[in-house]
Amino acid sequence: MRIRLNGLRQSTVGHTAIGLWRHPDSQAHRYRDLDYWVETAKILERGRFDALFVADALGPLDVYRGSADAALRDGIQTPTDDPLLPISAMAAATEHLGFSVTVSSTYELPYAFARKMTTLDHLTRGRIGWNIVTSALDSAARNLGLEKQLGHDERYAKAEEFMEVVYKLWEGSWADDAVVRRGDVFVDPSRVRPIEHDGVHYRVPGIALSEPGILRTPVLYQAGTSRVGRAFAGRHAEGVFLSAYLPSMARQLVTGVRAEAAAAGRDPSSLKFFAIATVIVAETDAEAHAKLADYQRYASVEGALARWSALMHIDLSALDLDKPLEYVETDGIRGMVELFTTLDPSRTWTPRAIAEFVGVGGGGPVIVGSPATVADELERWASESGVDGFNIADPVPPVTFRDFVDLAVPELQRRGLVRSEYEGSTLREHFYGPGVTRIPADHPPTTRRPPGGRPAAAHKF
Ligand SMILES: Cc1cc2nc3c(=O)[nH]c(=O)nc-3n(C[C@H](O)[C@H](O)[C@H](O)COP(=O)(O)O)c2cc1C
Repeated sequence: MRIRLNGLRQSTVGHTAIGLWRHPDSQAHRYRDLDYWVETAKILERGRFDALFVADALGPLDVYRGSADAALRDGIQTPTDDPLLPISAMAAATEHLGFSVTVSSTYELPYAFARKMTTLDHLTRGRIGWNIVTSALDSAARNLGLEKQLGHDERYAKAEEFMEVVYKLWEGSWADDAVVRRGDVFVDPSRVRPIEHDGVHYRVPGIALSEPGILRTPVLYQAGTSRVGRAFAGRHAEGVFLSAYLPSMARQLVTGVRAEAAAAGRDPSSLKFFAIATVIVAETDAEAHAKLADYQRYASVEGALARWSALMHIDLSALDLDKPLEYVETDGIRGMVELFTTLDPSRTWTPRAIAEFVGVGGGGPVIVGSPATVADELERWASESGVDGFNIADPVPPVTFRDFVDLAVPELQRRGLVRSEYEGSTLREHFYGPGVTRIPADHPPTTRRPPGGRPAAAHKF
């Protein structure tokens, strides 16, 4: 078995663990400093991680009590900076680490976005990935020119056309030999062609503005879990991010998306799945548990509820913190009750109990112990769930990353579970092996025909 590792971050102070920015060791407030990002990238590269995954949100979390006050007080994804801008600096300080960055297909324009990603393909020398999200916050929609957000399935329909446009720009506009740089000619105009896209949401008649990067199409990631989201991931994603508290829950998602990939004509085993995990590691089990207890003292109950309110689109402030959830009737909360009851049927789940449970490790398992204990548990989790690796969270940044790399990685390497050296230098090579820089041949850009058109990615001139 081989376990792949990504680091999980957002350019903000409170992401998966709310309130822990108050811990004296936390450097979370340094998210505005380039040297914080450079230090992070170097730590992850030392641990031979595939990539740093940077999440993003385009609006404040304002469902809890109908305002952004709780999000502001605890720094929950607000304030948040743009995830793309620190990447060049991190790329300059590293050689192998990839960068998977979250950008919303709902609010970008594909023509300008394609150029940004190709620029990062150039500047990182093939180490850029894109986490395709359709965005789910009403607050983002309101501030980006809409009365309210597009419906869930409509956002995915728009994303589908967005993909068609960017595939055409990345794969179908410039021939590999278009840049000649000979005599008086820099680019041979006969080797560059307009994409002539005329669709429902986008009209892009022209050529791609950037010459192709090493990857052409960045490595594509996705994280949707709805039926439509799984089908989208099955068609487009090379990497899939998932959030699950038990291996059995992750397995359902892995199986579902792999089935969608097979239905789309792709090799389902080529998709790589990454589950969020928070790992608290120390020299001994006892020290690791003491460290967790110390972190837990800083977790914010109200902050966790504010974050979950936004995730579930339900204002949880109306609930009694200490009343068991089974008495609550709305659909969303029933889903939450089901989730936590499956996790531990013997417990009485109140809002406070849930907030404390997700306090240090929102989104996935919290794995605590010595290097050997942690390695055992990661191995068990991966084999029972079928995931290919983990998105390792950083609740006390960058201390948690550093502990993981200094203590857990050597043990995982000793067992041959993670790589000891990089075999390739681009992000796609980390996925598929040395020499594979282009998107696999069974992927939609090279096989799918847009309505009435030539294949989206016919870069055979
Ligand atoms: C593990 C995981 C990470 C996610 N990261 C982000 C993110 O950084 N930004 C964002 O806007 N949405 C993020 N999402 C939301 C999804 O991309 C998706 O928009 C949302 O789950 C709604 O789609 P669905 O209904 O298909 O699940 C994430 C979801 C999961 C499961």
